[in-house]
Amino acid sequence: MKTLIITCVLILFFVSPCFCKRLLLASSNTYNVIYYGAKGDGKTDDSQAFLSAWEKTCATGGSTLVIPSKGTFLLKKNLMFKGPCQATNIQIQLHGKIIVPTQKAWQGNDSPIIMISNVNGLTIDGTGGLIDGLGSSWWSCESCKRPTVLAFHACNGLRVSSLSISNSPQAHIHINGCEGATFSNINIKSPGDSPNTDGIDISSSKRVLIKDSHIACGDDCIAIIGDSSDINATGIACGPGHGISIGSLGRNNGHDNVEQVYVYNCTFTRTTNGARIKTFKDGPGYARNITYEKITLIQAYNPILINQHYVGLEGVGGVEVSGVTFRGFEGTSGDDRAITLACGSRGCHDILLDKVNIKSSKTGKAAACSCTNVHGIATSTVPSCHGIYK
Ligand SMILES: *[C@@H]1O[C@H](CO)[C@@H](O)[C@H](O)[C@H]1NC(C)=O
Ligand SMILES: *[C@@H]1O[C@H](CO)[C@@H](O)[C@H](O)[C@H]1NC(C)=O
Ligand SMILES: *[C@@H]1O[C@H](CO)[C@@H](O)[C@H](O)[C@H]1NC(C)=O
Repeated sequence: MKTLIITCVLILFFVSPCFCKRLLLASSNTYNVIYYGAKGDGKTDDSQAFLSAWEKTCATGGSTLVIPSKGTFLLKKNLMFKGPCQATNIQIQLHGKIIVPTQKAWQGNDSPIIMISNVNGLTIDGTGGLIDGLGSSWWSCESCKRPTVLAFHACNGLRVSSLSISNSPQAHIHINGCEGATFSNINIKSPGDSPNTDGIDISSSKRVLIKDSHIACGDDCIAIIGDSSDINATGIACGPGHGISIGSLGRNNGHDNVEQVYVYNCTFTRTTNGARIKTFKDGPGYARNITYEKITLIQAYNPILINQHYVGLEGVGGVEVSGVTFRGFEGTSGDDRAITLACGSRGCHDILLDKVNIKSSKTGKAAACSCTNVHGIATSTVPSCHGIYK
């Protein structure tokens, strides 16, 4: 029987290479947007073709959506890749370039440009590809609502690698309501003065790892908000940008609980902040068990910062901040403000500074530490911090 099949395949192969190719394609369930009408000429709106290809991908088991390397695909409208899918192992291979038109020619709304929701077990490989949000036409109006480039909602078991996104009108990537996600080799690139262009925003998610990535943008490189726990960021080069932030928390009197965050082996280069926790003065919620470790600073402003008075006057510090460790910081701060821990009257608790060595890059101004209402301990920390209480 086996020999028979092999003979058949061999005959088919010689008689009809085309047939064989089709057989291979069909068996691997590959859906190339080109076969669904995408032009990839940078002028034609390819959003419908993307959607048609997605619907096929989602409906078939073990399937792959391909955006091929030859081509610039224009999306004039928001795309929604919606699950749940029939398939369990869905892949998206983004090898080409995706662009959006200028704000005037955009026919969509301010929802994310590409929204992927309720798809479990999704893998995205962006090798060689790029999504360019061409955001400069949007940035001039800071108060205007602007779309995020790529958003994931309720996608469990997500893996995204080698993805490049530049110039988002607003945030580059949103991760919301996802459990179990790994992002690696992500390359985000936008100017330092582009407004609100966060790199990666994580909310209401669990077990998320962002690793080995470059993030240059005009706001937080990574922001962790909402009800999130077990979030790690390792091997991140951040800058320009506003650092890796917890918060802001407590903005809408919602439940802003963030815990078990581990930021390890990251570099902040000329960022406006480094390791930052920011909370509104009287919202409910907490930030607990947060560790920043092995951090390299290159002229980073506010390299260590807790701000419980984020926006508004001094308050009691409604969002509880406790169990925060800053360990192994080396390098230079942009000015003399190396460590600022500004807690409300209720205090921040269990704050640990250890093996911190920050030098000011401002001539004639030594690096300084400023603390208010901080309870914890500082060991091997330069500049030294007075005013941390047990
Ligand atoms: C984050 O790091 C901690 C400490 O190393 C580890 O226990 C945890 O499993 C990691 N979580 C993720 C999602 O990578
Ligand atoms: C730190 O991150 C860099 C950049 O991703 C990586 O090359 C290096 O191996 C990491 N080091 C450790 C100790 O994890
Ligand atoms: C704190 O978070 C780390 C991971 O970031 C975790 O391994 C550890 O168990 C947590 N500790 C507590 C007391 O919750």
